[in-house]
Amino acid sequence: MNAAVEINALSVTFEQNGQTVKALDSLDAVVPQGHVFGLLGPNGAGKTTLMHTLLGFIEPTRGNASIFGTDVRRSIARQRIGYLPEHPDTYRFLTARELLQNAGRMFGMSRASVKQRGDALLEQLDLTQAADRLAGTYSRGMLQRVCLAQTLINDPDLVILDEPTGGMDPFGRLQIRNLISDLKARGKTVLFCSHELSEVELVCDTIAILYRGRAIASGPASTLVPVGERLEPFFIRTITAAADAQGGSHA
Ligand SMILES: Nc1ncnc2c1ncn2[C@@H]1O[C@H](COP(=O)(O)OP(=O)(O)O)[C@@H](O)[C@H]1O
Ligand SMILES: [Mg+2]
Repeated sequence: MNAAVEINALSVTFEQNGQTVKALDSLDAVVPQGHVFGLLGPNGAGKTTLMHTLLGFIEPTRGNASIFGTDVRRSIARQRIGYLPEHPDTYRFLTARELLQNAGRMFGMSRASVKQRGDALLEQLDLTQAADRLAGTYSRGMLQRVCLAQTLINDPDLVILDEPTGGMDPFGRLQIRNLISDLKARGKTVLFCSHELSEVELVCDTIAILYRGRAIASGPASTLVPVGERLEPFFIRTITAAADAQGGSHA
């Protein structure tokens, strides 16, 4: 069985004011199907760049990445993906129900199956009460949740979430956590990044800590962190050690 995501010696460089920035630096990673993979790292570590490369927004400078065995340079690789960007937004002049109908129709779903799946997602994300209100009247957390419902409408096999709980209250975060657990229970693969380390600890099978485009620690969530230590102090310690070794800051 192909891995959901396979990354081999993947490098992405950007030119910034005449200087070359290595956003990803010979990165290797495997996300097996059915796993929840948590990508951690300080701001600027390369998390979004990695997601954008998988999504085909950015070409790898060197190395390879594949999704379910298909090279990400081929657009067909993204057929089974759902993606929630870091700052999601949507049409404010439509209601949640209309937005889901639109999103579902884009994937060629029938009206009936969009309704069935959409209603379940609205319920799961606590949006049923607001489902017939314009998205323009939603709070930031509600907007985030309706965008997540759009992401999941076609029941994708690989779900990529860029800081899905950013700006959410504890109830919203709990819903996202439950939703990720539910995706996993249905055999889906989830790749997400988050700064909410206590949540990452609860939902991930595998964790990778990125620093300056490299995975400086990775492994099963159950064994990566030494017994008796929590993920947050381990994360701080790991990043600080890497920054000291490279004579840089932690970002
Ligand atoms: N389009 C771009 N042009 C130039 N530099 C970029 C671009 N996108 C990202 N970078 C740089 O790549 C590095 C990684 O950024 P990013 O992947 O957004 O980090 P993260 O998501 O972990 O906060 C940063 O140094 C950032 O400034
Ligand atoms: Mg980012």
